[in-house]
Amino acid sequence: METQGRVRSYNARRGRLSALTVERMETLAPRHAIPADGPLVPEQAFGRTAPVVLEIGCGHGAAALAYAAAHPGHDLVAVDVFTPALARMLAEAERQGLGNIWMHQGDAVLLLADRVHPCSLAAVHVFFPDPWPKAKHAKRRFVSRQNLDLVADRLAPGGHLLLATDHDGYAAHVRSELAAHGGFDVTEGERPPWRPTDGFEAKGLAAGRRVSEFRAVPASSSG
Ligand SMILES: C[S@@+](CC[C@H](N)C(=O)[O-])C[C@H]1O[C@@H](n2cnc3c(N)ncnc32)[C@H](O)[C@@H]1O
Repeated sequence: METQGRVRSYNARRGRLSALTVERMETLAPRHAIPADGPLVPEQAFGRTAPVVLEIGCGHGAAALAYAAAHPGHDLVAVDVFTPALARMLAEAERQGLGNIWMHQGDAVLLLADRVHPCSLAAVHVFFPDPWPKAKHAKRRFVSRQNLDLVADRLAPGGHLLLATDHDGYAAHVRSELAAHGGFDVTEGERPPWRPTDGFEAKGLAAGRRVSEFRAVPASSSG
């Protein structure tokens, strides 16, 4: 996949890290980070071969933590670029004693494109992605024809993409991109029972916004 010069779906936030964030990353990241490079091989990365779920843009990890707790037989790889949020997720993973939550700090699109084998993921989760509401920024949205191709290629047979957004404009964008892509069977309106109301979802609900839920299964694997 051509990833050179592509537009990023995240804000490259910088700023001083707190002492707590630095300490958490130094002590906890070595226990939870996937290998820094090379193809992602479950046996090497997780010490077992089990269904692998990738969450793109996990923020402080409320959904990732809940999924890992509810699915001890799966390995959840939570990806974000934002250090304080990842550090908070790792601290909570330690508090809960979760051994099946893994992290990668970086661009999830590059991870998917360069290091994840085709047909290898049980699911891809994208919850409350940055909506990039201005027309001039719409090309930064994670959901695009190219990224849908990438996700479809990396999902194992029977795998699925879950996406939720509280931004009606983004929901319309997801609907039209999935329809134009044509390679997924799409169900709307099913909220995953394990997902807590937290993070950006809580903010959206407090502001009176509705949540749109998408479940997309590559048509070739949905039978
Ligand atoms: C609006 S926040 C939502 C966070 C979390 N999912 C929640 O619901 O609270 C979107 C997150 O996605 C991350 N993000 C966006 N594009 C990304 C990418 N390509 N790779 C990794 N993280 C990404 C951003 O850094 C940000 O933390």
